[in-house]
Amino acid sequence: MEKMIDVELRNIQKKFQNNIVVHDFSLQIEKGEFISFLGPSGCGKTTTLNMIAGFLEPDEGDLLIKGKRMNGVPPYKRELGMVFQTYSLFPHMTVAENIAYGLKLRKQSKAEMQERVQRVLDLVKLPNVADRYPKQLSGGQRQRIAIARALVIEPSLLLLDEPLSNLDAKLREELRDELKRLHQEIGVTTIFVTHDQEEALSLSDRIVVLNHGSVEQIGTPTEIYHNPASEFVHTFIGKTNRLHGVVTKVEGNRMKVQTDKGFVVSALQPAKAVQEGQRVTVFIRPEKIVLSAETAPAGVNQANGQLMMTSFLGAFTECQVQAGGEILDVKVQMLEKLAGVTPGSSVLCQWHEEDVLVMPAEGDRL
Ligand SMILES: Nc1ncnc2c1ncn2[C@@H]1O[C@H](COP(=O)(O)OP(=O)(O)OP(=O)(O)O)[C@@H](O)[C@H]1O
Ligand SMILES: [Mg+2]
Repeated sequence: MEKMIDVELRNIQKKFQNNIVVHDFSLQIEKGEFISFLGPSGCGKTTTLNMIAGFLEPDEGDLLIKGKRMNGVPPYKRELGMVFQTYSLFPHMTVAENIAYGLKLRKQSKAEMQERVQRVLDLVKLPNVADRYPKQLSGGQRQRIAIARALVIEPSLLLLDEPLSNLDAKLREELRDELKRLHQEIGVTTIFVTHDQEEALSLSDRIVVLNHGSVEQIGTPTEIYHNPASEFVHTFIGKTNRLHGVVTKVEGNRMKVQTDKGFVVSALQPAKAVQEGQRVTVFIRPEKIVLSAETAPAGVNQANGQLMMTSFLGAFTECQVQAGGEILDVKVQMLEKLAGVTPGSSVLCQWHEEDVLVMPAEGDRL
């Protein structure tokens, strides 16, 4: 079956004054897909979303929705629902009036409006707040209402600009699960903007990683996590250890690296092959390093060190280990079960070669 493309960006560019803030952005979004734009503050997420919504016009490139060119078409003709980065409910209107606002513009009958408002209130699990004013709701409830207001017009496209960023951690997670459920239930094509990698990983079918207005990588959460296209993507998506070194041996699909601080690391060949003698950067995630109280000589993929600092975080403990001249971050489940291991103890760090990521030095792309 041929894929239905709902939204297409073709070489979109946006300048403010003479500053290019979105470079050559191309993307095809399938019907029903949940896509996240992920990147640091100022990388162009909101600007791109506003171009899709029609609040801003691209300087170059084409924007297509359901195959129709949308450049120059005003927002209200694009059939989309949007939730903005900051709270955007009208304070002087009740919840029901806020939600119905979009319907009024579309000239619906009163009975139908009421029914649709109630339906979306049920959908966001706030069936009994229709008569309240926004100030009588919690932050999380207000964002649910903002989402309900976006959904009530039954948009063909839902645009969400960091809708969870003003909420505390627990509520964020709750509403994140709600969003996931909503998307599974109604299947509306969704673009979700965030700078939170966990949100992007947990919600998305695909993630677009942006950096300084350029697309670094487009891929599924597992592709982005396990096969990052650049050092930026790998380091942005989670904590990691970064070691610098030289390739000493390449044999078939395996290789050895001698790091500047004295580790011997074996790894699998990266997608873009490296050669003996080449300078590379080696990455190992903290959760991939196994800590033990064993004493063993340093060797391939293992290093002796001293436990410097621990932070107990419940499900796991974050540790810092001084090994050679490196400080390694290590994430340990149940450190409390490692008898006698406390700050100051000698420890052995080990990891598997398939958990080592090697990239050519100087930020070349794989
Ligand atoms: N109206 C404007 N005039 C001039 N520069 C702008 C304007 N709007 C945005 N910018 C600049 O464009 C860049 C991208 O801004 P944008 O709001 O898209 O970032 P963002 O990725 O949404 O960031 P955040 O995560 O902080 O919301 C920033 O450098 C910003 O300063
Ligand atoms: Mg923004």
